[in-house]
Amino acid sequence: MAEINKFLIERLTNRFKQKFDHPPLAVARAPGRVNLLGEHVDYNDGFVMPAAIQRATYVAFSPSPGWVSTLRSEDFAGEELTFTRESLPAKIQDDASPLPGWGLYPAGVAWVFLQHGLPVIPIQAVFASDVPRGAGLSSSASVEAAFCTAWHHLGGLNLPLMEQAALCLEAEDRYVGVHCGIMDQFASLCGVENRLLQLDCRSLEWSLLHLPEDISILIADTRIPHSLNTSAYNQRRQECEKAVQLLQVNLPSIRSLRDVSRDELEQYAGSLPIAVGMRAGHVVEEIHRTREAKICLESGNAAGFGGLMNACHASLRDLYEVSCPELDLMVEIAQSLPGCLGARLTGAGFGGSTVNLVKNSQAEDFVNHLKTAYYQKTGLSAEVFITPASAGAGIV
Ligand code: GLA
Repeated sequence: MAEINKFLIERLTNRFKQKFDHPPLAVARAPGRVNLLGEHVDYNDGFVMPAAIQRATYVAFSPSPGWVSTLRSEDFAGEELTFTRESLPAKIQDDASPLPGWGLYPAGVAWVFLQHGLPVIPIQAVFASDVPRGAGLSSSASVEAAFCTAWHHLGGLNLPLMEQAALCLEAEDRYVGVHCGIMDQFASLCGVENRLLQLDCRSLEWSLLHLPEDISILIADTRIPHSLNTSAYNQRRQECEKAVQLLQVNLPSIRSLRDVSRDELEQYAGSLPIAVGMRAGHVVEEIHRTREAKICLESGNAAGFGGLMNACHASLRDLYEVSCPELDLMVEIAQSLPGCLGARLTGAGFGGSTVNLVKNSQAEDFVNHLKTAYYQKTGLSAEVFITPASAGAGIV
C-alpha cells in the first residue's frame, strides 16, 4: 500500500463526523502523477512513461440517506455543493445555482457514470488533496479518480482500472471541457509502487518498468501555476491534427503522428506551416525517444534515459513552445548539479513542475542547491521533494 497521509485522513474523518453526525463508510485515495518521458504525445497515439506519486486526493465518504449528494472541499475553504442526478446535466446544484469550478470534477464523474448506465449512489463526502494545484502534477485527474473509486465502491462494481481511467477522461473532456489525453487518469488509477508505467496510448496496452535502485525521482515545483492553459493546450492539439491532415496528402495511410517516421517527416516537413512543422517535429522525435528510453531502462542505462529527458525538455521549449523562463531556469540549474542524470518540465507545461532523475547519494545536496540557486535568481521559494512511484487509486 502506498504511504498514506494519515494526518489528512484524520482531518477529513473528523470533519465528516462533525458535518454528517456519523463516521464515513470509507476513504478513497487517488494519487497525482509525474511523467518521466512522452510529453504531449498521449493525444497523438504515442507512448508515455508516467508514475503515480505519493501526493494524493482523499475522499471520506458514505452513501447519502436521500437523493441529494453533498460534497465539501477542504481545499476551497470548506465550500460545499449539492447535486442530484436531475441537476447534473445542467451543471447546477440541487438549488439550481451553478456548480463551482472545483465541483465540475466530481460531478463530471457522476454524470459520466450515468451516461454509461452505471449506478451513482448519492454520496456524502468531504475531500482534500496534498497534490499541489497548478503544479502540473494532475491534481484534477486525482480528484476524478478518487471520486470514481468512491462511486465504484458504493456501486459494488468491478470495472477494469483502464475502463475507470477512460470514464474519468470522459468527465474531463465532456463535462469539464479540457480535451486532454488519457495519461493522467491512467497513471492515477493504474499506478504501481516503485514502478514506472509505460502506456501505448493507441492500443491502451501497458507494462511496468524498473528504475535503477540507486536513482531517485525528484519533483521541483517552480511555483508558477500552470492553470492548464486550456486554450494553448487545445491549440497544440489542433496543430497536431492539422499536421496529420496535411501529411496525409503524401502519406494517405497515416491516422496520427504516431504513424509518421522521422525520415518521412524530414521529407515532407516543407509542406507544413512553420509552427505546425515544429509541433510535429517534437511529437515524432518524442515518440522515438520513448522507444529508446525503454531500451535504456531495460539495460539499466539510467544515464542514457536522463539524456533523453534533457533532449525532451529542449524540444518542449524550442519546438512545442510550452515552457516558460522559470521552468527553463529550474532545468538549467538542475542539469548543472552533480548527480543529476536528467531534468525537464513535466506535464502540459506553461508553468508547473520539473522532474529530475538524481543519484540517491547526491539527492539531498541536489535539493538544497536547486532551491537556493532558484531562489537567488527568481526570489521564489520552490518546493523540491523526492517521490517514490506510488500505488494507484484505492480504498485506504
Ligand atoms: C496534461 C494532459 C495530458 C497530457 C499532458 C502532456 O497533463 O492532461 O493528457 O497531454 O498534459 O503530456
